[in-house]
Amino acid sequence: MTAIGSEREAGPFAAERRAENVVAAVPLRLQRLDASHLAATRRWANDPELMRLLDRAEPVSEAEHAAWFAALTHQSDRRYFALELGDERRHVGNAWLWQIDRRHAKAEVRIVVGEAAAQGAGIGTRALEAIAEIAFGELGLTRLYAYTLGFNPRARRAFEKAGFVVEGLLKNDRRLADGFCDVYLLGRNHLSRCGG
Ligand SMILES: CC(C)(COP(=O)(O)OP(=O)(O)OC[C@H]1O[C@@H](n2cnc3c(N)ncnc32)[C@H](O)[C@@H]1OP(=O)(O)O)[C@@H](O)C(=O)NCCC(=O)NCCS
Repeated sequence: MTAIGSEREAGPFAAERRAENVVAAVPLRLQRLDASHLAATRRWANDPELMRLLDRAEPVSEAEHAAWFAALTHQSDRRYFALELGDERRHVGNAWLWQIDRRHAKAEVRIVVGEAAAQGAGIGTRALEAIAEIAFGELGLTRLYAYTLGFNPRARRAFEKAGFVVEGLLKNDRRLADGFCDVYLLGRNHLSRCGG
């Protein structure tokens, strides 16, 4: 027997949409990255599929990871947030502002929803909206931008849903194991930057 509503939810990405309905009501917090988030962060940094989607070339050793985290506290041009889901604060990913440029009031946004089970449920979009709120509010930035690889339409779509627009296509911008690939540049400008 077909469950009520299953026909309505059929089609591409229907499973993602069903998961999104369940997760949409669960609170999502952006928490400053701390030592409790390090193990998962390294696991995602070394996951082959995530490395491919994030264009990471080399795995990170435990010592490199610890040194990277120790250096973070002194680096004012980047800010890392853990994505924590639900009251139990399940760490499902990270989002960060990179190359924060105070003079030009802008930064790059990067994100990984590392837990595979949490992908495709709207968490990435919500996290990008939340990080934009922090960037445009507390940090006083007025422009955010991001790069997504041409073969990663899910990332492009999540940024678009969070208010970013495609500003450019960088042809054959990155060299990968099996050839070169295009990169999309997406941007989101605060109204005040546009004279509004
Ligand atoms: C990219 C990422 C942050 C997106 O977060 P997410 O929570 O999975 O995404 P969301 O559920 O918020 O939105 C995904 C959207 O992409 C759509 N989508 C999924 N696969 C797609 C595909 N192959 N083609 C087009 N759209 C696709 C979904 O349907 C959804 O859009 P919709 O709500 O309009 O249907 C997350 O999947 C992730 O971290 N992936 C691995 C690492 C990565 O790619 N990071 C980004 C590097 S720039």
